Amino acid sequence: MKKILITGGAGFIGSHVVRRFVTKYPNYQIFNLDALTYAGNLENIADIDKSPNYTFVKGDIVDADFITDLFQKHQFDGVLHLAAESHVDRSITDPLAFVKTNVIGTMNLLNAAKMIWANNFEGKRFYHISTDEVYGSLGAEGLFTETTPYDPNSPYSASKASSDHFVRAYGETYGLPYVITNCSNNYGPNHFPEKLVPLFIHNIINNKPLPVYGDGKYTRDWLFVIDHAIAIDLVFHEGKNHETYNIGGFNEWQNIDLVKLLCRQMDAKLGRVAGESEKLITYVKDRPGHDLRYAIDASKINKELGWKPSVTFEQGLEKTIDWYLSNEDWLQHVTSGAYQEYYQKQYS
Ligand code: NAD
Ligand code: TYD
Repeated sequence: MKKILITGGAGFIGSHVVRRFVTKYPNYQIFNLDALTYAGNLENIADIDKSPNYTFVKGDIVDADFITDLFQKHQFDGVLHLAAESHVDRSITDPLAFVKTNVIGTMNLLNAAKMIWANNFEGKRFYHISTDEVYGSLGAEGLFTETTPYDPNSPYSASKASSDHFVRAYGETYGLPYVITNCSNNYGPNHFPEKLVPLFIHNIINNKPLPVYGDGKYTRDWLFVIDHAIAIDLVFHEGKNHETYNIGGFNEWQNIDLVKLLCRQMDAKLGRVAGESEKLITYVKDRPGHDLRYAIDASKINKELGWKPSVTFEQGLEKTIDWYLSNEDWLQHVTSGAYQEYYQKQYS
């Protein structure tokens, strides 16, 4: 029986990772540690909540004493660290919150793992789930590889770059067995409606303006969240220690083209006249420091571990829209209260 700690398992990607590990590995005892911030929601994993190999722990990774006690009590064999402040726009208004959770929180987990493993690293692994945004922005050409120098531009990406560096430093200095993955933009079920895809689905349903930043020509490489969870499972079990793997969708879209595709699919699902949702597109003030283009070269994980995305973008987007349309309660719960305040501040 292995004891595995997953942090941030009530969030978007974390919930899909927790579900996969709890259902696929009944011989693992899975601990999901989450502070349940605005982005954490136990409804995301209500279906596996009663599983005998699953324990939820509410707690803050910034609290060093709490983290030390938790590691001492449970003696985890592996850590999959996903808990983070994850939204670029929020990092622009409150960068310190990102340093606290993403840098100090990661440090606390590293220190606790180092303490309990005490140089006996056999069968142990610390896995940091990170982002392609640490590499900065691409021009019209080229792809991010694992050797692209870090060049973060937003407080979010700077905090993730910093935590990646600390993970690597603990590997080099103390021999901590680690792996890092840097993944492109995810989309899919359970995504909090502050990020582009779920926000726009929510606004289309409610006939609200679709706020496209700047000229809409910014490019992202989109990956279905379940394909990310599959890659995480693979890297955790088969990735090499002290290695980084890039994960991406081989799927670049300019924001405006993605939004138009989403509008077309939503019109069809909602029985609207073709072109109706596109009328909601509204160009708004650009995000400061907005990275022009992200695109991942995922050939290393493909060649070494045999991973590739399992769905096309059109299929993934359709599954995502279907999920939101059949989970309107979920959307209502997460968009009440504090969400309204955030929305006013960000888009007024
Ligand atoms: P999310 O914001 O949906 O979820 C984050 C989770 O972490 C929430 O459940 C929240 O309650 C929890 N959390 C936040 N602060 C915490 C704290 N101090 N202590 C304990 N728990 C805390 O994020 P996500 O989109 O699921 O991203 C998960 C990870 O994947 C992050 O590390 C992010 O940087 C990385 N990532 C995300 C994407 C993406 O497109 N969303 C892409 C690549 C990498
Ligand atoms: P987002 O989902 O916030 O992810 P990230 O900034 O981590 O890539 O944004 C994706 C793209 O969509 C990015 O270029 C910013 C743009 N965007 C908008 O145009 N309008 C919005 O309201 C949001 C949230 C994002």
